[in-house]
Amino acid sequence: MTSSQVERVETLRWCNGYLEMIDQRVLPAVFRYLRYDSAEAVAQGIREMVVRGAPAIGCAAAYGVALEALRQCEASGSDFTDRMAGAFNVLAASRPTAVNLFWALGRMRKRWDSLASQPAAAQAHALLAEAHEILAEDIRVNRAMGEHGAALLADGARVLTHCNAGALATAGHGTALGVIRSAVEAGKRISVIADETRPFLQGARLTAWEMVQERIPVTLITDNMAGFLMSRGEVDAVIVGTDRVAANGDVANKIGTYMVAVLAHRHRIPFYVACPTSTIDMSIADGAGIPIEERSREEVTGFRDCQWAADGVLVRNPAFDITPAELVTALITERGVVHQPNLEQLTALAARR
Ligand code: MRU
Repeated sequence: MTSSQVERVETLRWCNGYLEMIDQRVLPAVFRYLRYDSAEAVAQGIREMVVRGAPAIGCAAAYGVALEALRQCEASGSDFTDRMAGAFNVLAASRPTAVNLFWALGRMRKRWDSLASQPAAAQAHALLAEAHEILAEDIRVNRAMGEHGAALLADGARVLTHCNAGALATAGHGTALGVIRSAVEAGKRISVIADETRPFLQGARLTAWEMVQERIPVTLITDNMAGFLMSRGEVDAVIVGTDRVAANGDVANKIGTYMVAVLAHRHRIPFYVACPTSTIDMSIADGAGIPIEERSREEVTGFRDCQWAADGVLVRNPAFDITPAELVTALITERGVVHQPNLEQLTALAARR
């Protein structure tokens, strides 16, 4: 199937006993699903970014646990337990920054612990049901977030986004792009400016594709053009997703987000962060404590078969950066909008249902 014939983006789906995931490394040139049957294979898919985006990674990890339980349920009691422990470990080691991965694994672990007295096959089926519920819940949460966030966007708003926080980064609808989708569904005329998002090009390849599919007007820019457009009054709001929010409201997101936030502040443009409450990590005091993934040098020295940098050059490739809470106009969550997030506000939000 070509990527222009896709009717509905199902980032992950359960199909005939397997997990299938859209291969996000090759979009938009190729639209294909890859099939997964074990925790190790899912962990590799997360590491290699077949699936990416914090909530989608969490969903994939939940299915990774369920797949392993289904695969191992003929094993003897202690072998089953050991192999399941191995599955949790391999999935937890796949990517470090998005807390949704650890949130989903924690939830699967809790469910597994509650099943200890049951036969392995029953455990496996209950774990699969839990993974399905995590996926369904993610879509519900994104829709709720979309409704809260849509109210912040004026009719006609030109909204800049960085990376991809869309349906492809979640189980569906998206976080930042979910807010945009909900605003469009509410009848607002919204146009999107997509930063290309070097080096993996999530903006150019994924955000632009999602918006084109839905006929939401989208303009692609390279990352270094954002300041110019803002200085000319061509951006009304910025909305991004996040991989982890610290207890004080500092936000980890795709590398380059901090730059956009500083520019937005300079030009008095609201900077919104859309995230499910599962992305808020109250155990980390501030952004300095959030682990930042460093990826391979090849992502910076070239793209696919094309190498543009000299062999031997030193390279840095941090995949995320930290935007201090003071630059965040508001966090948009499924429980409501938190203006100028800080420890007090996030503590109150955690207590709210
Ligand atoms: O490296 P990626 O593509 O997994 O990074 C994704 C992002 O930074 C997203 O903005 C974030 O996960 C939020 S997705 C709803």
